[in-house]
Amino acid sequence: MTSEILNVQGLETQFNTPEGVVHAVNGVDFKLNEGETLGIVGESGCGKSVSMLSILRLIQQPPGKIVAGTAMFKGKDLLQISEDEIRQVRGGQISMIFQDPMTSLNPVMTIGKQLAEPMMLHLGFNKEQARAR
Ligand SMILES: Nc1ncnc2c1ncn2[C@@H]1O[C@H](COP(=O)(O)OP(=O)(O)OP(=O)(O)O)[C@@H](O)[C@H]1O
Ligand SMILES: [Mg+2]
Repeated sequence: MTSEILNVQGLETQFNTPEGVVHAVNGVDFKLNEGETLGIVGESGCGKSVSMLSILRLIQQPPGKIVAGTAMFKGKDLLQISEDEIRQVRGGQISMIFQDPMTSLNPVMTIGKQLAEPMMLHLGFNKEQARAR
């Protein structure tokens, strides 16, 4: 039995710029089952980062705007839930390692510690529980 954990449909994100509207993401659909790994591949500028930032609501609005789509995660639409709820999801249930790992990961901290920290912060785990997870 596979159970669906994330279902993104019709995601569209745009940016308003002085030169006009940038259609960064134009109708992205994908599904992810629990335990599954999905790689998204495409040329530079095709919208991979903006898609993922949109799902976690990390697009600065304005100039950005999520104009269409749904991102169902455990029965809730990440694009519709409150700011408080999405904050619980970020780090607590979905983590992001931002592009350019040399600046987004701390080189003087072990990877294990950096993965454990959000679980301790958001899920109230102790060290052993975080390590086990
Ligand atoms: N703040 C912004 N304002 C205007 N346009 C933006 C902004 N952020 C991203 N874009 C545009 O959105 C499009 C998608 O960018 P995105 O960063 O998602 O590409 P990517 O697929 O992650 O590329 P890469 O492989 O280089 O990381 C690009 O055309 C980019 O210029
Ligand atoms: Mg990118």
